[in-house]
Amino acid sequence: MPAMVKVFDTTLRDGEQSPGASLDVKQKVEVARALQALGVDILEAGFPISSPGDFEAVQAVAKAVRRPVIAGLARCSPADIDAAWKAVKPAQFPRIHVFLSTSPLHMQYKLKKSPAEVLKIAAEMTKYARSLCKDIEFSAEDATRSDVNFLAKVVHAVIESGARTINIADTVGYITPDEFERLLKDLQAKVPALGTKAVLSVHCHNDLGLATANSLAAIRAGARQVECTINGLGERAGNAALEEVVMALKTRRAYFGVATNIQTRELTRASRLVAAATGIAVQRNKAIVGANAFAHEAGIHQDGILKQRLTYEIMDAKDIGLQENQLVLGKHSGRHALKRRLHELGYDVADADLPKVFERFKDLADKKKEVFDEDLQVLMEERTGAPREVYALDHVQATSGSGMVPTAAVRLSVDGKLVQGSGTGDGPVDAVYKTIDALVGRQPKLTGYASKAITGGTDAQGEVTVQLVSGGRTLTGRGAHTDIVLASAKAYVNALNRLAALERQRRHKPAVPKKTKK
Ligand code: KIV
Ligand code: ZN
Repeated sequence: MPAMVKVFDTTLRDGEQSPGASLDVKQKVEVARALQALGVDILEAGFPISSPGDFEAVQAVAKAVRRPVIAGLARCSPADIDAAWKAVKPAQFPRIHVFLSTSPLHMQYKLKKSPAEVLKIAAEMTKYARSLCKDIEFSAEDATRSDVNFLAKVVHAVIESGARTINIADTVGYITPDEFERLLKDLQAKVPALGTKAVLSVHCHNDLGLATANSLAAIRAGARQVECTINGLGERAGNAALEEVVMALKTRRAYFGVATNIQTRELTRASRLVAAATGIAVQRNKAIVGANAFAHEAGIHQDGILKQRLTYEIMDAKDIGLQENQLVLGKHSGRHALKRRLHELGYDVADADLPKVFERFKDLADKKKEVFDEDLQVLMEERTGAPREVYALDHVQATSGSGMVPTAAVRLSVDGKLVQGSGTGDGPVDAVYKTIDALVGRQPKLTGYASKAITGGTDAQGEVTVQLVSGGRTLTGRGAHTDIVLASAKAYVNALNRLAALERQRRHKPAVPKKTKK
């Protein structure tokens, strides 16, 4: 039997710290369910003290998702630990995850504490957390820029205080794989309880593009928990991508000699769901889940693949849940067939929701000759990515052409009230966006716009992703339609609804102490 490596997913906590990736409670629960189906061992649902919305979301995940351990993050302070405990307590397997910096830089400038004080706080707060919950993880923040002897003292002290997982964080993505392997071996030699009394875990950021390589090096050095996120989301350049670490371990099983509990056929679905919910699209050439990851362009490669797939493919696309484009349904298909196909694709639609989903399917089937699995996935993901709607498009029309001033007419509802107007712009999409701005009385800055075709053919759906900045916040929105101007309008309104949801969340009465960021 190979040794098992536990997969600790932090998409809903570190991943959500990506600019523009905020999720509401409903979205977090939906993603958490997909992570459970994926087979993650530990699911970090959020940082409960950071905002009332996050507290509520962690609690909702703790109630809704039963199989994995549910972790809540806390700084080394009683208020943080209390909030984390209150939020994760309903889980079948709750965990409090406390963290404290151990590097000279962080201790001096961020914490303004001496090493002796940090050592004392780490031990006391771990003990306090352990008095509430039996599963405690301690993270040494910025561990990879810490003095290894001091780090060992802290690790020893927190294990003595009851921590059963010790997480060594490469918080700023600084270390290299061979240095990390050496550091972890050194640490285990200095603290023999690491590996026997407590699980060694690692948490790698991707600032130098080394997060996956560092996580794998750590596993070779004895780490038995790896922290990662779907699509590599996370602070700055993100965290180690779950799909990359897991597929490296699976594809190179003989080399690493370890296994995980991940159901790899769920990877594509989880990746798409997270992209839809956060609005952060996956780059085409992203390893494992990018659109090009299994595409072969060069004639020599295509020829090789046709002769023997293994010539240019080290993984089977089916192992990550990718299916060949399949014609599934058309405009004559009924509700029952739609429900069954969606079930096969991993979406269980409640009977009460079916009429709405069916109506949208019929709209799409009217526009497209062939409805592919990918189209159905987009249809379902749009549902996940949609926050409660303040703004809803009712009608969009744009005209443009050589020698014409591009013009748009838009009708939309704002909190249920219909408003309409028209305007001009540099192109049809610009005209639509300016008209929407005037109707909703907002002027966000459009900082990103990207479009792509979801399937082949001239009747393919176009998918648009936009990024807006408003009041210092970055929001992403996605929309899909066979008409690219409509897809653009949907993406823009999706981002505006996220902005409205965020503003609403901030107006909520706090259930826990005030807002803070890690
Ligand atoms: O990057 C980091 O150090 C973290 C810790 C809270 C584990 O996210
Ligand atoms: Zn992190």
